[in-house]
Amino acid sequence: MLITFEGIDGSGKTTQSRKLFHFLKERGLPVHLFREPGGTDLAEKLREIILGKEMSERTELLLFEASRADLCSEVILPLIESGEIVILDRFTDSTLAYQGYGRGIELELVKRLNDFSTFGLRPHLTFLLDLDPRTALDRVREKTRFESLEFLEKVRKGFLEIARKEPDRVVVLRTDMPEDQVFDEVVKILKERTPLI
Ligand SMILES: Nc1ncnc2c1ncn2[C@@H]1O[C@H](COP(=O)(O)OP(=O)(O)OP(=O)(O)O)[C@@H](O)[C@H]1O
Ligand SMILES: [Mg+2]
Repeated sequence: MLITFEGIDGSGKTTQSRKLFHFLKERGLPVHLFREPGGTDLAEKLREIILGKEMSERTELLLFEASRADLCSEVILPLIESGEIVILDRFTDSTLAYQGYGRGIELELVKRLNDFSTFGLRPHLTFLLDLDPRTALDRVREKTRFESLEFLEKVRKGFLEIARKEPDRVVVLRTDMPEDQVFDEVVKILKERTPLI
């Protein structure tokens, strides 16, 4: 089973995906957590390149997809095939929201590249962590290369559009409340939508 956490910078993906990883691990379930881009030696090298340098939007898209193709073929697909649970801190929806809705690359092209690099693998459940960009940026301002508010507004709208189109897969959770309260919601949804707990 593949569970993904998505949302704009600072929305709480890393916080909540780690909580879920520990929660399932404590219950003795076979669970793995990876972040995108990253998760293999090659993908971590690509991550450094992508996050460390300005580049054209097409180059950026292809590097994200290259990193994803490596992670999927080397790690995620074999794990899923052997019945393990994989949690991802960002995945295909981030590419569609940032490179598609945000940077304006044709959505159908991004979707095709996503399917190509994942070999068609789709998440069983996606948590879209939703927060207004101003609050989100205030949470991460010191730590990351940060995007403009205007850009993040577009990305946020893109994520919400994805959720609207795929309600069976994507659950929107607001994260303008304390971490533990957000996590209670994560657990509640997990109970409703998966046989895991
Ligand atoms: N519910 C919350 N309320 C207040 N602060 C939070 C909450 N969740 C996370 N934070 C804090 O906000 C910051 C960003 O959270 P986190 O790193 O989980 O976001 P992210 O979505 O992974 O961000 P990025 O896209 O930059 O990786 C962290 O300092 C974290 O401790
Ligand atoms: Mg993070």
